Amino acid sequence: MRRSLVAANWKMNGSAESIAELLGALRQSLDGFAAADVLVCPPMPYLDLCGRLLEGSAIRLGAQNAHEAPSGAFTGETAVSMLQDFGVSHVILGHSERRQLFGETDAQVVAKCVAAQEQGIEPVLCVGETLQEREAGQAEAVVARQLKAVLDVCAPENLVVAYEPVWAIGTGQTATPLQAQQMHAFIREQVAARSTEVADSMRILYGGSVNAENAAQLFAERDIDGGLVGGASLKPTEFITICKSVSG
Ligand code: 13P
Repeated sequence: MRRSLVAANWKMNGSAESIAELLGALRQSLDGFAAADVLVCPPMPYLDLCGRLLEGSAIRLGAQNAHEAPSGAFTGETAVSMLQDFGVSHVILGHSERRQLFGETDAQVVAKCVAAQEQGIEPVLCVGETLQEREAGQAEAVVARQLKAVLDVCAPENLVVAYEPVWAIGTGQTATPLQAQQMHAFIREQVAARSTEVADSMRILYGGSVNAENAAQLFAERDIDGGLVGGASLKPTEFITICKSVSG
């Protein structure tokens, strides 16, 4: 049985004040919550603050990105070893916003996944097709390509995959539970072709306009093991409801 994971990707939002308020509310409702793992991924400058605010809590801390090099002249970047200093357990890698807005390639995403795993930080690898690719019937081919690049090199047992169809991110247009389940099953098949054991235990999250209304239906699908939540994760009541929507 896979343990669900609900992850909050706050993206570039929040302030010291709003984050303290948000984490206070999450801790109040989720500190005793045992049905799933909960992860929050704040913007980099707030990792330290969040680490301190989460002391003694089971809520995990994640980052939204990292650089593949251990150190060096990379102005504005953050090395994986630096994330370790703040008790980060997971790092989101290959998010479509990184791929589309910052030109990240599959090769870079692979290098980042390798660096994260070497430091004992579990990548949350994002994969997903654009609307154009879906309409052209290429959704599975795109996801397979993104996944293969990483699976060829990285340890699949220390990897979370997040299926985030680009057309569903921030649009309010969620994939239907069936659409999501079909792609999740496809992802699991790709992993199973390498190891059925790893495929059975790998957590595959759905991301893209998850909210308090649609979460339970999505999470009820056989191959959906939780969510990667953007906008709705900034609203405490909504995010708590999403966390509590995980299926037994
Ligand atoms: P939204 O939940 O705002 O659609 O964002 C999804 C996402 O990109 C999470 O990484």
